[in-house]
Amino acid sequence: MSTLLTGIGLLATQDEELNEIADGALVIDGDRIAWVGPAVRAPDADERVDLGRRAVLPGFVDSHAHLVFAGDRSAEFAARMAGVPYAAGGIWTTVAATRAASDTALRANLSRLAQELRRAGVTTFECKSGYGLDVATEARSLRLAAEVTAETTYLGAHVVPPGVDREEYVALVCGAMADACAPHARWVDVFCDHGAFDADEARAVLTAGLARGLVARIHANQLGVGLGVALAVELGAASADHCTHLTDADIDALASSDTVATLAPLIEFSTRSPYPPARRLLDAGATVALATDCNPGSGFSTSMSLAIALAVRELAMTPAEAVRAATAGGARALRRNDIGVIAPGRRADLVVLDAPSYVFLAYRPGVPLIHQVWQSGRRVWSAIG
Ligand code: NIG
Ligand code: FE
Repeated sequence: MSTLLTGIGLLATQDEELNEIADGALVIDGDRIAWVGPAVRAPDADERVDLGRRAVLPGFVDSHAHLVFAGDRSAEFAARMAGVPYAAGGIWTTVAATRAASDTALRANLSRLAQELRRAGVTTFECKSGYGLDVATEARSLRLAAEVTAETTYLGAHVVPPGVDREEYVALVCGAMADACAPHARWVDVFCDHGAFDADEARAVLTAGLARGLVARIHANQLGVGLGVALAVELGAASADHCTHLTDADIDALASSDTVATLAPLIEFSTRSPYPPARRLLDAGATVALATDCNPGSGFSTSMSLAIALAVRELAMTPAEAVRAATAGGARALRRNDIGVIAPGRRADLVVLDAPSYVFLAYRPGVPLIHQVWQSGRRVWSAIG
């Protein structure tokens, strides 16, 4: 079954550059994109859909999210807005609620958030554990995450639970917990930051994951400068996430490596922190991804559109750079070459905007512009039913 999408005011395709085809069209065959080009040259297809001159982009790829949890931290957010700074310790509140929740309750919250991401135009998302912090709850979190995505990440090293000896906890994360979690995970992650884990602990955790066949990614340099980014590059991590506080040496290291700098400006927005130096990263030649980092503590938003608007307005990225970071950049951060780009052979994951150009994502911040979402060649969400 093939479908021809026409009436595309501006088709944004991406490889190394963001290419635009005025009056474009594309053909979907099964779950893949079969053809892309100007509408006048479009081949025949079994079915034809006119998109009314709307912009089409690759589906967003959200390479960083924490969605397996119970409860909320709205009171912590309100206190923060009244001047209390964000600290890693707040994670423990969510751990207590998550441990006490049933599988049914966790699954319901997770599928509500997965649906919210889909409506936000996200067609692939990563999902971490990290609100269990004991062997059973971490493994359970990953089993549940694997029900909604293939991109599951073991984050037993989120914080040291209160009352637990640090060394013993790191040994557990590197030992029995890793054994129980690795079968359900593709990635291993660690929160390498002030109030969480230091670089030596983080190295031990990532090395234990690598030894079990997982691939490394890391929460680095969110709360201050530190050794997280250097460690990510040293270990060949797919991505160093947050990158809020970077030295020139960190930027050089990222630019001369395959490690993607994943920025999560919704977190700086929601913690009232300085924004990461996206311009310096891009100008140095680093690959940049944009992620929501949706979580109940530091930032509870699934809006990739708002992340793009912030990247443009606050991080000085151009609209094209921001959209590319939210699509091809996210795919690079997940080491995926089947998504993030509109090109023949790629998965037919698409966002249709109720606007003539991707620029409107930043030009009209906060406005719900996602008109349709296509995933693996099927329309999975539409604003008009
Ligand atoms: O990415 N930084 C560590 N983890 C999350 C926050 C977790 C929380 O506050 O619950 C983050 O910001
Ligand atoms: Fe995170």
